[in-house]
Amino acid sequence: MISIRRTNAPLGAEIQGIDLTGELDDAILAAIVDAWHEHEVIFFRGQTLSPEQHVCLSRRLGELELHVRSEFAKPGHPEIFVVSNMLENGKPIGASDAGATWHSDSCCRREPSSGSLLYARQVPRRDGKMLGDTLFSSMTAAYEALPDEMKMRLRGLRCVNSIDNGYTRVRRNVLDENQRSRVPGHGADVEHPVVRVHPHTGRKCIYVNESYTTHIVGLSADDSRALLDILTAHVTQPQFVYRHNWQVGDLLMWDNCSTQHKAMFDYAPLHRLMERTTLQGILPLSDVEHEPAMAGQV
Ligand code: SIN
Repeated sequence: MISIRRTNAPLGAEIQGIDLTGELDDAILAAIVDAWHEHEVIFFRGQTLSPEQHVCLSRRLGELELHVRSEFAKPGHPEIFVVSNMLENGKPIGASDAGATWHSDSCCRREPSSGSLLYARQVPRRDGKMLGDTLFSSMTAAYEALPDEMKMRLRGLRCVNSIDNGYTRVRRNVLDENQRSRVPGHGADVEHPVVRVHPHTGRKCIYVNESYTTHIVGLSADDSRALLDILTAHVTQPQFVYRHNWQVGDLLMWDNCSTQHKAMFDYAPLHRLMERTTLQGILPLSDVEHEPAMAGQV
Protein backbone atom coordinates (compact mmCIF):
# COMPACT_ATOMS: atom_id res chain seq x y z
CA MET A 1 0.00 0.00 0.00
CA ILE A 2 1.58 3.29 -1.15
CA SER A 3 1.54 6.22 1.23
CA ILE A 4 2.79 9.77 0.73
CA ARG A 5 4.22 11.85 3.59
CA ARG A 6 4.88 15.49 2.83
CA THR A 7 7.87 17.22 4.35
CA ASN A 8 7.44 20.47 6.31
CA ALA A 9 8.79 22.44 3.35
CA PRO A 10 6.76 23.68 0.37
CA LEU A 11 8.19 20.79 -1.66
CA GLY A 12 9.27 17.21 -1.00
CA ALA A 13 7.45 14.04 0.01
CA GLU A 14 8.49 10.58 1.10
CA ILE A 15 6.80 7.70 -0.70
CA GLN A 16 6.42 4.67 1.51
CA GLY A 17 5.32 1.12 0.81
CA ILE A 18 7.11 0.64 -2.53
CA ASP A 19 10.00 -1.66 -3.32
CA LEU A 20 11.56 -0.17 -6.43
CA THR A 21 13.38 -3.40 -7.28
CA GLY A 22 10.04 -5.02 -8.07
CA GLU A 23 8.06 -4.69 -11.29
CA LEU A 24 5.96 -1.54 -10.89
CA ASP A 25 2.55 -1.81 -12.49
CA ASP A 26 1.27 1.10 -14.58
CA ALA A 27 -1.16 2.32 -11.90
CA ILE A 28 1.58 2.51 -9.24
CA LEU A 29 3.91 4.23 -11.67
CA ALA A 30 1.21 6.78 -12.53
CA ALA A 31 0.67 7.43 -8.80
CA ILE A 32 4.41 8.01 -8.36
CA VAL A 33 4.53 10.42 -11.31
CA ASP A 34 1.50 12.33 -10.01
CA ALA A 35 3.15 12.63 -6.57
CA TRP A 36 6.36 13.78 -8.22
CA HIS A 37 4.63 16.54 -10.19
CA GLU A 38 2.72 17.66 -7.14
CA HIS A 39 5.59 17.59 -4.62
CA GLU A 40 8.45 18.37 -7.04
CA VAL A 41 10.90 16.20 -5.04
CA ILE A 42 10.00 12.69 -3.88
CA PHE A 43 12.11 10.05 -2.18
CA PHE A 44 12.02 6.38 -1.25
CA ARG A 45 14.07 5.15 1.73
CA GLY A 46 15.77 1.80 2.17
CA GLN A 47 16.02 0.73 -1.48
CA THR A 48 18.63 -1.78 -2.65
CA LEU A 49 18.88 -0.96 -6.32
CA SER A 50 21.37 -2.50 -8.73
CA PRO A 51 22.63 -0.13 -11.45
CA GLU A 52 20.43 -2.04 -13.93
CA GLN A 53 17.35 -1.48 -11.75
CA HIS A 54 18.17 2.21 -11.37
CA VAL A 55 18.42 2.60 -15.16
CA CYS A 56 15.34 0.46 -15.77
CA LEU A 57 13.22 2.50 -13.33
CA SER A 58 14.48 5.73 -14.89
CA ARG A 59 13.63 4.51 -18.39
CA ARG A 60 10.04 3.93 -17.33
CA LEU A 61 9.91 7.71 -16.83
CA GLY A 62 11.53 8.74 -20.11
CA GLU A 63 14.57 8.72 -22.36
CA LEU A 64 17.89 9.26 -20.57
CA GLU A 65 20.57 11.87 -21.15
CA LEU A 66 24.23 10.95 -21.25
CA HIS A 67 26.21 13.32 -19.06
CA VAL A 68 28.75 15.54 -20.77
CA ARG A 69 31.43 14.39 -18.31
CA SER A 70 31.49 10.82 -19.62
CA GLU A 71 34.72 10.18 -17.70
CA PHE A 72 32.42 9.91 -14.64
CA ALA A 73 29.95 7.46 -16.15
CA LYS A 74 29.65 4.27 -14.11
CA PRO A 75 31.68 1.59 -15.91
CA GLY A 76 29.30 -0.47 -18.04
CA HIS A 77 26.45 1.99 -17.43
CA PRO A 78 26.87 5.11 -19.57
CA GLU A 79 23.50 6.47 -18.36
CA ILE A 80 24.70 6.62 -14.73
CA PHE A 81 26.67 9.71 -13.73
CA VAL A 82 28.74 9.08 -10.61
CA VAL A 83 28.94 11.87 -8.02
CA SER A 84 31.66 11.13 -5.52
CA ASN A 85 34.86 12.31 -3.86
CA MET A 86 36.28 8.77 -3.83
CA LEU A 87 39.40 7.62 -5.66
CA GLU A 88 40.18 4.25 -7.19
CA ASN A 89 43.82 3.56 -8.05
CA GLY A 90 44.50 7.23 -7.43
CA LYS A 91 41.84 8.40 -9.92
CA PRO A 92 38.47 10.00 -9.11
CA ILE A 93 35.55 7.66 -9.71
CA GLY A 94 33.05 10.50 -9.98
CA ALA A 95 32.51 14.24 -10.12
CA SER A 96 33.54 15.62 -6.74
CA ASP A 97 32.16 19.11 -7.43
CA ALA A 98 28.68 18.33 -8.81
CA GLY A 99 26.04 20.56 -7.27
CA ALA A 100 28.49 23.03 -5.72
CA THR A 101 26.25 25.98 -6.65
CA TRP A 102 22.48 26.30 -7.24
CA HIS A 103 21.38 24.96 -10.61
CA SER A 104 18.88 22.91 -12.55
CA ASP A 105 20.35 19.95 -14.45
CA SER A 106 21.21 20.54 -18.10
CA CYS A 107 19.51 23.95 -18.17
CA CYS A 108 22.13 24.86 -20.75
CA ARG A 109 20.66 22.41 -23.26
CA ARG A 110 18.03 23.62 -25.70
CA GLU A 111 15.78 20.87 -24.37
CA PRO A 112 16.76 20.71 -20.69
CA SER A 113 16.30 17.67 -18.51
CA SER A 114 12.84 17.09 -17.04
CA GLY A 115 14.12 15.36 -13.91
CA SER A 116 16.91 13.41 -12.24
CA LEU A 117 17.03 10.31 -10.03
CA LEU A 118 19.84 10.21 -7.44
CA TYR A 119 20.62 7.02 -5.54
CA ALA A 120 22.70 7.10 -2.34
CA ARG A 121 25.26 4.28 -2.11
CA GLN A 122 27.56 5.74 0.54
CA VAL A 123 26.69 8.64 2.83
CA PRO A 124 29.30 10.30 5.07
CA ARG A 125 28.61 10.15 8.77
CA ARG A 126 30.28 11.99 11.66
CA ASP A 127 29.33 11.70 15.34
CA GLY A 128 26.17 9.82 14.34
CA LYS A 129 25.04 12.57 11.94
CA MET A 130 24.69 11.99 8.21
CA LEU A 131 26.43 14.69 6.17
CA GLY A 132 26.41 15.80 2.53
CA ASP A 133 22.76 16.93 2.45
CA THR A 134 21.21 18.29 -0.75
CA LEU A 135 19.10 21.46 -0.75
CA PHE A 136 16.13 21.74 -3.13
CA SER A 137 14.30 24.97 -3.76
CA SER A 138 10.80 25.20 -5.22
CA MET A 139 10.65 27.45 -8.27
CA THR A 140 6.84 27.43 -8.20
CA ALA A 141 6.72 28.62 -4.58
CA ALA A 142 9.39 31.22 -5.39
CA TYR A 143 7.40 32.46 -8.40
CA GLU A 144 4.13 32.61 -6.50
CA ALA A 145 5.75 34.64 -3.71
CA LEU A 146 6.91 37.38 -6.10
CA PRO A 147 5.11 40.71 -5.91
CA ASP A 148 2.70 41.29 -8.82
CA GLU A 149 4.88 44.07 -10.25
CA MET A 150 7.81 41.68 -10.49
CA LYS A 151 5.66 38.98 -12.12
CA MET A 152 4.62 41.59 -14.66
CA ARG A 153 8.22 42.71 -15.19
CA LEU A 154 9.38 39.14 -15.85
CA ARG A 155 6.56 38.34 -18.22
CA GLY A 156 7.95 37.19 -21.60
CA LEU A 157 11.60 37.87 -20.66
CA ARG A 158 14.23 35.47 -21.89
CA CYS A 159 17.61 34.59 -20.41
CA VAL A 160 20.79 32.97 -21.66
CA ASN A 161 22.17 29.84 -20.03
CA SER A 162 25.77 28.97 -20.71
CA ILE A 163 27.50 25.69 -19.98
CA ASP A 164 30.82 27.54 -20.10
CA ASN A 165 29.60 29.87 -17.36
CA GLY A 166 28.76 26.90 -15.14
CA TYR A 167 32.10 25.28 -15.78
CA THR A 168 34.11 28.43 -15.25
CA ARG A 169 32.20 29.31 -12.11
CA VAL A 170 32.36 25.92 -10.46
CA ARG A 171 35.44 24.30 -11.91
CA ARG A 172 37.42 27.36 -12.95
CA ASN A 173 38.00 25.90 -16.40
CA VAL A 174 36.12 25.68 -19.66
CA LEU A 175 34.61 22.68 -21.33
CA ASP A 176 37.24 20.88 -23.38
CA GLU A 177 36.60 20.02 -27.04
CA ASN A 178 35.93 16.40 -26.23
CA GLN A 179 33.24 17.28 -23.66
CA ARG A 180 31.81 20.00 -25.91
CA SER A 181 31.36 17.50 -28.74
CA ARG A 182 29.05 15.43 -26.50
CA VAL A 183 26.61 18.27 -25.81
CA PRO A 184 23.77 18.89 -28.27
CA GLY A 185 24.52 22.15 -30.08
CA HIS A 186 28.22 21.69 -29.29
CA GLY A 187 27.80 23.49 -25.98
CA ALA A 188 26.63 26.79 -27.51
CA ASP A 189 24.75 29.15 -25.19
CA VAL A 190 20.96 28.69 -25.21
CA GLU A 191 18.04 31.04 -24.65
CA HIS A 192 15.21 30.09 -22.30
CA PRO A 193 12.22 31.83 -20.73
CA VAL A 194 12.93 33.50 -17.38
CA VAL A 195 9.56 32.13 -16.27
CA ARG A 196 8.68 28.79 -17.77
CA VAL A 197 5.49 26.83 -17.51
CA HIS A 198 5.63 23.31 -16.16
CA PRO A 199 4.59 20.96 -18.99
CA HIS A 200 2.43 18.79 -16.69
CA THR A 201 1.09 21.01 -13.95
CA GLY A 202 0.88 24.29 -15.89
CA ARG A 203 2.43 26.07 -12.90
CA LYS A 204 4.88 28.91 -13.48
CA CYS A 205 8.49 28.34 -12.47
CA ILE A 206 11.39 30.78 -12.25
CA TYR A 207 14.04 29.42 -14.56
CA VAL A 208 17.26 31.37 -13.89
CA ASN A 209 20.05 30.08 -11.67
CA GLU A 210 23.32 31.35 -10.27
CA SER A 211 25.45 28.69 -12.01
CA TYR A 212 24.53 28.93 -15.66
CA THR A 213 22.44 32.04 -16.35
CA THR A 214 24.65 34.78 -17.78
CA HIS A 215 22.18 37.53 -18.67
CA ILE A 216 18.66 38.54 -19.53
CA VAL A 217 18.10 39.24 -23.21
CA GLY A 218 17.39 42.83 -24.22
CA LEU A 219 18.44 44.46 -20.92
CA SER A 220 21.60 46.50 -20.41
CA ALA A 221 24.43 44.61 -18.70
CA ASP A 222 23.80 46.52 -15.45
CA ASP A 223 20.01 46.02 -15.48
CA SER A 224 20.42 42.37 -16.37
CA ARG A 225 22.94 41.77 -13.55
CA ALA A 226 20.76 43.62 -11.04
CA LEU A 227 17.65 41.62 -11.96
CA LEU A 228 19.52 38.31 -11.93
CA ASP A 229 20.96 39.13 -8.51
CA ILE A 230 17.46 39.84 -7.18
CA LEU A 231 16.06 36.62 -8.64
CA THR A 232 18.88 34.28 -7.65
CA ALA A 233 18.79 35.65 -4.09
CA HIS A 234 14.99 35.35 -4.02
CA VAL A 235 14.72 31.74 -5.25
CA THR A 236 17.11 30.27 -2.69
CA GLN A 237 15.53 31.76 0.43
CA PRO A 238 15.03 29.20 3.23
CA GLN A 239 11.21 29.36 3.04
CA PHE A 240 11.32 27.74 -0.43
CA VAL A 241 13.85 25.05 0.48
CA TYR A 242 13.66 21.38 1.43
CA ARG A 243 16.92 20.00 2.84
CA HIS A 244 17.36 16.27 2.25
CA ASN A 245 19.40 14.42 4.85
CA TRP A 246 20.53 11.30 3.00
CA GLN A 247 20.53 7.72 4.18
CA VAL A 248 22.17 4.86 2.31
CA GLY A 249 19.54 3.34 0.02
CA ASP A 250 17.61 6.57 -0.65
CA LEU A 251 16.37 7.01 -4.19
CA LEU A 252 15.33 10.62 -4.67
CA MET A 253 13.77 12.15 -7.79
CA TRP A 254 13.67 15.88 -8.45
CA ASP A 255 11.93 17.90 -11.12
CA ASN A 256 14.36 20.07 -13.08
CA CYS A 257 11.66 22.53 -14.17
CA SER A 258 10.05 23.23 -10.80
CA THR A 259 13.18 22.98 -8.61
CA GLN A 260 16.84 23.93 -8.35
CA HIS A 261 19.33 22.17 -6.12
CA LYS A 262 22.70 22.50 -4.43
CA ALA A 263 24.76 19.98 -2.47
CA MET A 264 26.47 20.60 0.88
CA PHE A 265 30.21 19.95 1.03
CA ASP A 266 30.61 19.49 4.78
CA TYR A 267 32.07 15.98 4.95
CA ALA A 268 35.69 15.86 3.67
CA PRO A 269 37.73 13.73 4.21
CA LEU A 270 34.80 11.31 4.61
CA HIS A 271 33.46 9.59 1.52
CA ARG A 272 30.20 10.10 -0.35
CA LEU A 273 29.03 8.03 -3.33
CA MET A 274 25.88 8.88 -5.27
CA GLU A 275 24.67 7.75 -8.68
CA ARG A 276 22.43 9.83 -10.94
CA THR A 277 20.34 9.23 -14.02
CA THR A 278 18.99 12.23 -15.91
CA LEU A 279 15.77 12.31 -17.93
CA GLN A 280 15.60 14.10 -21.25
CA GLY A 281 13.17 16.99 -21.39
CA ILE A 282 11.43 19.17 -23.93
CA LEU A 283 11.72 22.75 -25.16
CA PRO A 284 10.61 25.05 -22.31
CA LEU A 285 7.41 27.01 -22.86
CA SER A 286 7.30 30.59 -21.59
CA ASP A 287 4.55 32.19 -19.52
CA VAL A 288 3.53 34.25 -22.57
CA GLU A 289 3.47 31.30 -25.01
CA HIS A 290 1.40 29.34 -22.55
CA GLU A 291 -1.27 31.99 -22.15
CA PRO A 292 -1.30 34.12 -25.31
CA ALA A 293 -4.76 35.39 -24.44
CA MET A 294 -3.45 36.68 -21.11
CA ALA A 295 -0.52 38.65 -22.57
CA GLY A 296 -0.02 41.86 -20.64
CA GLN A 297 -1.69 40.54 -17.49
CA VAL A 298 -0.20 38.80 -14.45
C1 SIN B 1 23.93 17.02 -8.57
O1 SIN B 1 23.87 18.24 -8.67
O2 SIN B 1 23.54 16.27 -9.45
C2 SIN B 1 24.50 16.39 -7.32
C3 SIN B 1 23.65 16.61 -6.13
C4 SIN B 1 24.24 15.97 -4.92
O3 SIN B 1 25.32 15.39 -4.98
O4 SIN B 1 23.62 16.05 -3.86
